[in-house]
Order: sequence, then structure tokens, then C-alpha cells
Amino acid sequence: MAVSGPEPRPLLYVVRRAHFSAAHRLYNPRFSEEWNRRTFGKCASPHYHGHNYTLEVVVAGSPHPETGYVIDLAKLAEIIDEVIVQKCDHRNLNTEVDFLHGLIPSTENLAVAFWRQLEPRIVQGRLYAIRLYETERNYVEYRGEYDAH
Ligand code: NI
Repeated sequence: MAVSGPEPRPLLYVVRRAHFSAAHRLYNPRFSEEWNRRTFGKCASPHYHGHNYTLEVVVAGSPHPETGYVIDLAKLAEIIDEVIVQKCDHRNLNTEVDFLHGLIPSTENLAVAFWRQLEPRIVQGRLYAIRLYETERNYVEYRGEYDAH
């Protein structure tokens, strides 16, 4: 005989997109100029270069019964602006952003760093993924996972 339980709650993924422009260079100071040029090509150019980044933040959860929202997108927009955009927009990612110090600002490393800034601030729903586009064709997705291998 079927036991009736609480109705299953639909799980949704809500996405907010933000944009910022920033300068960086890919350079590992532990290696020679020659190694950096060979490894990173023009991305290692000493005087930096810019990208128009797109950041997508995905929050998972069920709609709250009183609002119908997983998360208020206006609030999510504020969090992204405060935590990421205001700190990175029109900045040099190698030198000017406190939480990026010591990192090679590849899209991968930026995605992990952004996750760590955003995750504790998302209290409605849960942070599910972030996607960081360095160009229209190149992007990285991070879901807060660790490689067990
Ligand atoms: Ni670049």
C-alpha cells in the first residue's frame, strides 16, 4: 500500500549573469621569462592585457512557499556586485584584488577564488555552479568540487 508523504519539492537552478572588464597577465614567477613565454605565449606579455569577463552564478533550490523564489535575484545581483564586480571591474587582477594575491589569474583559478568569495554569502538556496567566460568561446565552470585523484 502506498504511503503518502510530503509532496516532492521541485529543484530549480536560478542563474544571474554579471559582467566586468579587467586586466591580467599569465605569469609564474617561479620560472624564467623564457618558460613563461613558451607556456603562456602572448598571455604572458609584461604590460598586461584585458578581457571582458562574463560571470554566471547558479543557485539551486526549491521555490519558497511565501515568495515563489529560490533566491531573490535582486539580492543575488547585489551580492555578486559587492563581492566580485566592485573588486574586479577595471582592475588589474594580478596586483589589485586582495583575494587574488599570489594566484596566477587563469580563468580556472579565478573561478575557484570567486566561488570561495560567493559561497558563504548565498544563504537562500545553495550555490550550485559558477561559470566564468573569458571570451565568448572560452569558459570555465566550477561546482565547488575537489578532485579525489
Ligand atoms: Ni588573458
